[in-house]
Amino acid sequence: MSIRFDDKIAIVTGAGGGLGREYALELARRGAKVVVNDLGGDRTGTGASDAAQQVVAEIEAAGGVAMANGASVTEYEQMAEMVARAKEAWGGVHILINNAGVLRDKTFTKMDPADFEFVVRVHLLGSAYATKACWDTFREQNYGRVLMTASSTGLFGNFGQANYGAAKLGLAGLTKTLYLEGAKNNIKVNTLAPVAGTRMTEELFPEALFKAFDPAKVMPAALYLVSENAPTNQIVGAGAGVFQASYVTLTQGALLTGDDLSPEGVEAHWAEITDRSGEIVPDSGAGQSMVIGKKLQGG
Ligand code: NAI
Repeated sequence: MSIRFDDKIAIVTGAGGGLGREYALELARRGAKVVVNDLGGDRTGTGASDAAQQVVAEIEAAGGVAMANGASVTEYEQMAEMVARAKEAWGGVHILINNAGVLRDKTFTKMDPADFEFVVRVHLLGSAYATKACWDTFREQNYGRVLMTASSTGLFGNFGQANYGAAKLGLAGLTKTLYLEGAKNNIKVNTLAPVAGTRMTEELFPEALFKAFDPAKVMPAALYLVSENAPTNQIVGAGAGVFQASYVTLTQGALLTGDDLSPEGVEAHWAEITDRSGEIVPDSGAGQSMVIGKKLQGG
């Protein structure tokens, strides 16, 4: 059955180019009314342009429905106003793709604290603000689909991106609590870690690979994850047509008592503590306490 978004209103942040533009175009092709948000700055978040307006023009030329929004995700009031405008024009908001992002790469040694703060502000606070601005509407409608954009840097690390990585893993953490809080109102929240040839990565990819990693090849994961039958609380990787799942896991661990309940005991039992056989994927923080409880009961 084909996935459609008729009668759905979607907001895509940072949709003036790159991945966000792909998501916005395809959501509109499949029937959604789309708010194309973008500040239109450069890769570091500096400056402004009419990037969002251009994507709206593309959508309209293809017969779709869209509105441009030039707000910054870093300003909660602007996010609230964006949501209010969408509701005023179209009567609701059902889908939010938190995609806006910037880079200010440097080794941690050389990183200015202001650049750490700015990158966390755009990715982590920006996604939290846009989501918060939609949240009551999602609850009232008993329908909401939220996608956070993480990154392999956040999940696994990358030299020179401490600020970006911290923000990106924070988004996976945000997903893990919002999915719990949204469940009873049919709000599903997922995390995507894309790999794509965009202006953000153009210096990293040789030309042939840049083309192979066309953002259009990430789009199917993003759209599935905000669709009616989307899963929830998933971390999905997507790049060049390869789709993956990533997990935060927990080992069974070791119960240490007596003399072993000491730093030396942790050292001595390190292999057992880190042994991955019997590893689980907790579906909430309570999972950790349950494993501990089982250990205490001799399980
Ligand atoms: P991009 O630079 O083309 O897109 C990011 C967009 O966000 C830009 O259009 C920019 O103007 C907009 N933006 C920046 N600050 C904003 C703000 N305060 N308010 C509203 N819009 C703002 O780069 P790309 O690659 O399309 O990135 C999209 C998302 O995917 C980002 O969150 C990025 O961190 C993430 N990502 C991309 C990867 C890749 O391989 N391209 C890898 C991992 C994550």
